[in-house]
Amino acid sequence: MLQKEMMDALNYQVAMEAESSQAYLALASWADAQPGLNGVAAFFYQQSDEERQHMLKLMKFVNERGGFAVIPSLPQPQISYTSLKSAFETFLKHEYKVSSSINDLVETALKLKDYATHNFLQWYVNEQMEEESVARLLNEKLELIGEDKSGLYLFDRDIVGPVKK
Ligand code: FEO
Repeated sequence: MLQKEMMDALNYQVAMEAESSQAYLALASWADAQPGLNGVAAFFYQQSDEERQHMLKLMKFVNERGGFAVIPSLPQPQISYTSLKSAFETFLKHEYKVSSSINDLVETALKLKDYATHNFLQWYVNEQMEEESVARLLNEKLELIGEDKSGLYLFDRDIVGPVKK
C-alpha cells in the first residue's frame, strides 16, 4: 500500500509528465506550421507520445499499489517560438526540470523507506539520462549549424531516426 506522501509525490509527477506531453505537442504544432520543419514536428509528436506513456506508467503503478492516480488540469503550454534554437533550448530546460523532479521523488521514496517505489523509479532515472543527452546533443548541433540553411535542412531531415534512441 502506498503511503499518502508517496502517492501525492507520484501524482505530482503524473502532472509533470502530462505537462511535458502538452509542451511537446505545442512544439510539434509550432514546427508543423513552419515551412520545411516537418522532421522537427515529427520528432516532437513522438516526444509528446513518449511523455504520455511516462504518465500512464506512473498512473498504473499508483493504482496497482492501492493508491489513486489523479488526472490533473493543465496550464496552456508555450505555443510559439522565435527560433528553432529557442524551441530546442526550451526542450532541454524542460528535461532538466523533469530530471530534478524525478530526483526529488527518489529522495522521497528513500526517506519513506518505500523500496518498491524506489525500484520502480530507476526506469525514470535512466530515461531522463537518455532524454537529457538527446536534448543536449540536438542543442549542440544547432549551435554548430547557426544560420546555415543547408545545415538546418540536414538537421530537420535527420532528426527522426539516427539521433533518437
Ligand atoms: Fe518523461 Fe522526458 O520526461
